[in-house]
Amino acid sequence: MNNPRKIIIDTDPGQDDAVAILLALGSPELEVLGITAVAGNVPLALTQKNCRIICELAGRPDIPVYSGAIRPLVRELVTAENVHGKTGLNGPELSDPTMPLQAQYAVDFIVETFMSEPENTVTLCVLGPLTNIALAMIREPKIIPRIAEIVLMGGGCFEGGNVTPAAEFNIYVDPHAAKTVFNAGVPITMFPLDVTHKALTTRKRVEEFRSMGTNVGIVTAELLDFFERFDEEKYGTDGGPLHDPNVIAWLLKPELYTGRHINVEIETASELTMGMTVADWWGVTDRPKNAFFVRDLDAEGFYNLLVERIGALCP
Ligand code: BDR
Ligand code: CA
Repeated sequence: MNNPRKIIIDTDPGQDDAVAILLALGSPELEVLGITAVAGNVPLALTQKNCRIICELAGRPDIPVYSGAIRPLVRELVTAENVHGKTGLNGPELSDPTMPLQAQYAVDFIVETFMSEPENTVTLCVLGPLTNIALAMIREPKIIPRIAEIVLMGGGCFEGGNVTPAAEFNIYVDPHAAKTVFNAGVPITMFPLDVTHKALTTRKRVEEFRSMGTNVGIVTAELLDFFERFDEEKYGTDGGPLHDPNVIAWLLKPELYTGRHINVEIETASELTMGMTVADWWGVTDRPKNAFFVRDLDAEGFYNLLVERIGALCP
């Protein structure tokens, strides 16, 4: 196998973030240099703790976890306990982590990593609001041309929003950070609701995790049981959309996805459409193409990959 691809996972767990982290830790093609927590689904004190819970669940207490931004750049923090529960990881019984939180600030870790690793060798996988990434770019703009790629879950176009009619949660929570990142000139691959709403946690798929019989398989099923209940009611589907693991699956099997390289701008002025990703799918403007917008996936292939890799985690 080639050298593993180096990644940093920036995240706000969240059940679907947790499954994304498990997928990364179960995949030898990826080397997770660190996990950086941000405030989002739940406040920072919980997201950083949840990152450590998941590393321990995967049997990887050696992964350094850093705590980052406690709030968005400009706006008040909006959280999503209505989707994820009070802890962010409601569903299974989970013990408090014993592995330490790193003393270094997540934003400093991101800057230091991009300045010390060879140019274009580290990919940023962003599963929450983009606050830490924007802060790192503002703190040290020299990192910008050194970032190989940013792969993120966020936004929506044809599918509308999930927190307001116009906006998806991750972009809505920190639209100013999102604007900074989308305008930075770094190659971006985005997984909007248009694709994640096609990755449904159907009953049959959830049962595949439970039937692994391993602790990690059972916990995954219980996380998805909880996450799914809310979205099933909301969308009237068998299962809810599984968002964040698509970011990691893309790095492993890009052939599962199709999309288009387009211009995406972030709305930060109108309260009504705050955080909307204005996606020029039809190419009706001359604005620069700044993102690969993923719109479709092979959902069976995606779940097969999840089952294979989460099944390979031993604990
Ligand atoms: C995104 O928001 C969070 O609730 C999920 O973890 C995902 O990153 C979906 O809109
Ligand atoms: Ca998330």
